[in-house]
Amino acid sequence: MTNDDQLQIFLDIATEAALAGGAVLQAYWGKLASIEEKGRPGDLVTEADKAAEAVILKVVQRHFPQHAILAEESGKLGEATSKYLWAIDPLDGTTNYAHQYPFFSTSVGLLIDGYPQVGAIFDPFHQELFRAARGLGATCNRSPLRVSTSNDLSKSLLVTGFAYDRRTTADNNYAEFCHFTHLTQGVRRSGSASIDLAHVACGRLDGYWERGLSPWDIAAGVVIVSEAGGKVTAYDGSPLQLDSGRILASNGLLHASMSRELLQVPRLSSYGYATLRDWQTQVRAK
Ligand code: IPD
Ligand code: CA
Ligand code: CA
Repeated sequence: MTNDDQLQIFLDIATEAALAGGAVLQAYWGKLASIEEKGRPGDLVTEADKAAEAVILKVVQRHFPQHAILAEESGKLGEATSKYLWAIDPLDGTTNYAHQYPFFSTSVGLLIDGYPQVGAIFDPFHQELFRAARGLGATCNRSPLRVSTSNDLSKSLLVTGFAYDRRTTADNNYAEFCHFTHLTQGVRRSGSASIDLAHVACGRLDGYWERGLSPWDIAAGVVIVSEAGGKVTAYDGSPLQLDSGRILASNGLLHASMSRELLQVPRLSSYGYATLRDWQTQVRAK
């Protein structure tokens, strides 16, 4: 069997798992009985997250019982020494889902020797299945994906997000959001990191950055953006470290300018403020 054949098998299983998880999310849509906070304010978990994760795990474990898994609600499972690691977000966009705002997805990625190689993202509300494997291209519902051709930041549409620690850190992405809102035609905040990456891959958006992410938010999406001709790195353009929490993804043409702007944004912390509330309190006191 060639490497491509093997990747195709992994991709088929990632797809089966993402579709199965998505079907659970559809079944619970608008019928949630339980919405809990996981610890940090606003970090929600519902019975849909848990039920979707259970079916995704079942698919992956049935086919690959020896592989390691990192799943948002269950943590680390399987053989820790395996070269294969499945990174699973059963419901990316839980806040949207809990409010019945229709932007959410299941995200199933596979890392081989630490590198994302396979990804499937399913948006059940819009019935869009984004998938890719290294070297095999990226598709949405079987149509090939290609990033946008926009090369002018002032004409671009970007997307970002804000992590659940935003109230307690000065490094909360607010300064970056304001900065790019000023420089571009707009910055969106969809509430689902995997959909953000999928939309960069299909050219609806020109670029995406975010901090405070977990590997399960982005493992699948980075493969899809790369295979659609885009670029995915750390903020400074160096190779992406999946567990750093920070990502810069773009159509490639805007990458250098996005990276430059990200590195020079003045942040609250540069002025000695610990949080936005800290800054507001001190300004009001003056
Ligand atoms: C969140 C979403 C959101 C991003 C947050 C993530 P969740 O994932 O991807 O867009 O801004 O940082 O934690 O909690 O809905 O799975
Ligand atoms: Ca997530
Ligand atoms: Ca989630």
